[in-house]
Amino acid sequence: MNELRKVLVSKAELESKVRELGAIISRDYEGKELVLIGILKGAAVFMSDLMREITFPVAVDYMSVSSYGSSATTSGVITIKQDIDTDIRGKHVLLVEDLIDTGLTLQHLKQLFALREAASVRICTILSKPSRRVADIPIDYSGIDIPDEFVVGYGLDYAEQYRNLPEVWIVETDGGH
Ligand code: XMP
Ligand code: MG
Repeated sequence: MNELRKVLVSKAELESKVRELGAIISRDYEGKELVLIGILKGAAVFMSDLMREITFPVAVDYMSVSSYGSSATTSGVITIKQDIDTDIRGKHVLLVEDLIDTGLTLQHLKQLFALREAASVRICTILSKPSRRVADIPIDYSGIDIPDEFVVGYGLDYAEQYRNLPEVWIVETDGGH
């Protein structure tokens, strides 16, 4: 069994950070053609909140990727399980993530969208574990830094459970105590 240990980021803190990120993104991309691309499934909740804080019309799409290897040893090789169906050539792409850990997934996706000739590719995440970073990529819009704990809620899962929690919780994955 696993159990929720404690709330790490409250609903109010998430809401205020999403509003802040939405305001900055709205200011930075005003007058440009922006495509938000959410990385499924984790980013679905953040994406839904973030898009409603953007003050002009944006296109929205989603993709699903999987990475090989354990998170400690991953090569950063990813497989696209579900791709976008938007033509992003010449458009400004903002990749929307739930949590950046090693950064290898986003490093790979950034290269992919550069190859696809996006006008620009930036990264936005609601949560970040800076102590776990391996790939030296800039996180253009970073929400809340968290310690190296396994977290669930606000889109993040443990064995597909808990995505619907409105807060971010630390979860015990080793049988508890
Ligand atoms: P990178 O490539 O940055 O991968 O190492 C980030 C992805 O790893 C997953 N991840 C977690 N998922 N609780 C989760 O539910 C966690 O504490 C956690 N840490 C990393 C997540 O899918 C993220 O998008
Ligand atoms: Mg996950």
